[in-house]
Amino acid sequence: MASAARSASRAFLRSTPATSSFRPAVRSSRFVLPAQGFRASSRRGYASEAGQGKSSNGLLWAGLAVAGGAGAFFYLNAGDSVSSKEFVPAQKDYQKVYDEIARRLADETDYDDGSYGPVLVRLAWHASGTYDKETGTGGSNGATMRFAPESDHGANAGLKLARDFLEPIKKQFPWITYSDLWTLAGACAIQELGGPAIPWRPGRQDKDVAACTPDGRLPDATKDHKHVRDIFYRMGFNDQEIVALMGAHALGRAHADRSGFDGPWDFSPTVFTNEFFRLLLDEKWQQKKWNGPTQFTDKSTGTLMMMPTDIAMVKDKEFKKHVDRYTKDSDVFFKEFSDVFVKLLELGVPFTTKAEDRYVFKTSE
Ligand code: HEM
Repeated sequence: MASAARSASRAFLRSTPATSSFRPAVRSSRFVLPAQGFRASSRRGYASEAGQGKSSNGLLWAGLAVAGGAGAFFYLNAGDSVSSKEFVPAQKDYQKVYDEIARRLADETDYDDGSYGPVLVRLAWHASGTYDKETGTGGSNGATMRFAPESDHGANAGLKLARDFLEPIKKQFPWITYSDLWTLAGACAIQELGGPAIPWRPGRQDKDVAACTPDGRLPDATKDHKHVRDIFYRMGFNDQEIVALMGAHALGRAHADRSGFDGPWDFSPTVFTNEFFRLLLDEKWQQKKWNGPTQFTDKSTGTLMMMPTDIAMVKDKEFKKHVDRYTKDSDVFFKEFSDVFVKLLELGVPFTTKAEDRYVFKTSE
């Protein structure tokens, strides 16, 4: 029943247009799917049971170590005689984390266009996109966005919602590091929103506030192709990879109270597609007349938006070559997006495991 409700809700989300005027209809999907309400309450019961189990065992987690590339979680019995147990998570344990994130995504549809998926993708990208290949600083190995000043950087506005969304999962699986959890959630969101498989491996360790990166490492959407290249070359990406990554803007929307920009890039922001590229090419984009940052609106409906850095993908000849390729062939886009998103999520991580050992998570039904 749970999976039937999930499929129904997912099919509903996918077939629902995204423009602001349609959003209330998406929100009401809770009420047209009674099975979902049932699932939500049964999930609450499950979460509190897990909490009780933990406290009745009297277990206190004491630390995290990394053994042979896999996280080894040590926990101690509270009391005089200290006995420590070591838990080395395996693929099936990470699949359980994946399943819980997927379940929460399917349950929590009363947000934005009906899914937290896009903002989870953004969290994973912003946690990783601080990487600097020259100094080896930044990247997904640290989850330093938990701390100010990084959490307060303008580019990270709104990402507290994503971090908070994952907090119950972290409580349920205390052995996973935030750095692994956030990247796994990004991979999960892409898969659950209909995107390609994102092979993933554990091995990231959380760092403290001292490892926060300086402001300005993430791209500024008001700038041009030169800035985009500077930012992404610093991480070690080439032009083709930059364009593939930008295709993630098929998902989600900009929020005036977060970035200042406003609106979705396409009509299906909870489904991973190559629509971002098709619309960039097929639509006529005109500058929006408003009291906000320069952004562009589609001439046909006036409801979609592109930011200057998005428009740079067709203004710049080298970038545009790849926009053409991805518009023509969605399979090529899915394959190249998967490759580059895996690379993004692994920037700056000193893995002791091999690339062949990455896990491919089973997507929910
Ligand atoms: C030049 C590069 C990029 C710039 C300037 C940029 C800028 C932005 C801005 C300003 C927003 C709106 C935030 C808000 O108001 O909530 C946004 C949203 C988003 N970005 Fe990017 N971005 C870039 C690249 C990427 C990449 C590489 C990814 C992932 C691979 C990505 C994924 C997303 C997603 C999924 C959203 C929607 C979030 C939501 O719905 O809450 N972006 N981006």
